[in-house]
Amino acid sequence: SPVMPPDLAKCHDAKSSGLGDNLKCCPPYTSADIVDYTFPETPLRVRRAAHLVINDSEYMEKYEEAVKKMKELPENHPWNFYQQALIHCAYCNEAYDQVGFPGVPVQVHYSWLFLPWHRYYLHFYERILGKLIDDDTFTLPFWNFDSDDGMTIPEIFTNDTSSPLYNANRDTSHYSSAILDYKYSYGNTAGSGETGNALVLANLCYMKKTFKQSLPLAELFMGDPLRAGQEADTTNGFGQLESIHNAIHMWVGTPTSPHTDMGDFSTAGRDCIFFSLHANVDRLWHIYRMFRGNKVEFTDTDWLDSTFIFYDENEQVVRVKVRDCLKPNKLRYMYEEVPIPWMNKLN
Ligand code: C2O
Repeated sequence: SPVMPPDLAKCHDAKSSGLGDNLKCCPPYTSADIVDYTFPETPLRVRRAAHLVINDSEYMEKYEEAVKKMKELPENHPWNFYQQALIHCAYCNEAYDQVGFPGVPVQVHYSWLFLPWHRYYLHFYERILGKLIDDDTFTLPFWNFDSDDGMTIPEIFTNDTSSPLYNANRDTSHYSSAILDYKYSYGNTAGSGETGNALVLANLCYMKKTFKQSLPLAELFMGDPLRAGQEADTTNGFGQLESIHNAIHMWVGTPTSPHTDMGDFSTAGRDCIFFSLHANVDRLWHIYRMFRGNKVEFTDTDWLDSTFIFYDENEQVVRVKVRDCLKPNKLRYMYEEVPIPWMNKLN
């Protein structure tokens, strides 16, 4: 049967291999009444590329203003910037047990839950930001890391240390023109072993390969099935897109141990860049889907009926199912079209 949402009242300390066993990640609401989410009917919002919005000062002002407001909310407000980051901690660092399966954590990584859960997480986050500045067209920018021009840290996150978008807990040696490496990891900082244009090409080829190999078999792209009562397989359960995404987390996060902010799931949501990384992961899922002629990735109801809960833009705790997030249109957003340089390498 499908994985069900946790019992909020039974939230307990979370843990991280680097940051310890006593992490306080529980939400400030525990016994809220939960309703099915009413999907929005607002205008279609267009998410734009982070390296292209930098020259749109009107947009940048709005984005900074929204994040600033989120940071200024009372500490225990569910919309507060750090509370929003704790949602990620709670679902990724074992703050909940699956209902009916004590000791089996709710985990939204390393399986077919990865892409849908993060799609919803961004959806609610983006709408809360829009609400804070009273703008129903507001979108998060996506980090277009699958394009030649997007393979560096987007400047909007690094160019002004006093910006609300800035985060000091990063690997600053990866600022400016340093090129991202899809094979980077804390245990293998040399990554693919390439530099410069060769590294850009290695990344593009790796992206192409990821798509080409996984088009016939969704598990390879999305992650392995995970059903109620099962524990996620943290070494083999993830899909190839999640694996690239892990490399980018580590590449941005602090280089020395304990790794923080982007470098650890429990703190990753404290860096605005998290949401842009995930917006592009989400976009790549959308592209994958289009390549497959919009065919559903898994017809299994254990996937389609997997259920999550979130705090929405109307301060209501809502229940959502995987089956309802498969088309971004239903969530009223889409992606700006940008060139897909690795695509013509696909045959
Ligand atoms: Cu929930 Cu980028 O990880």
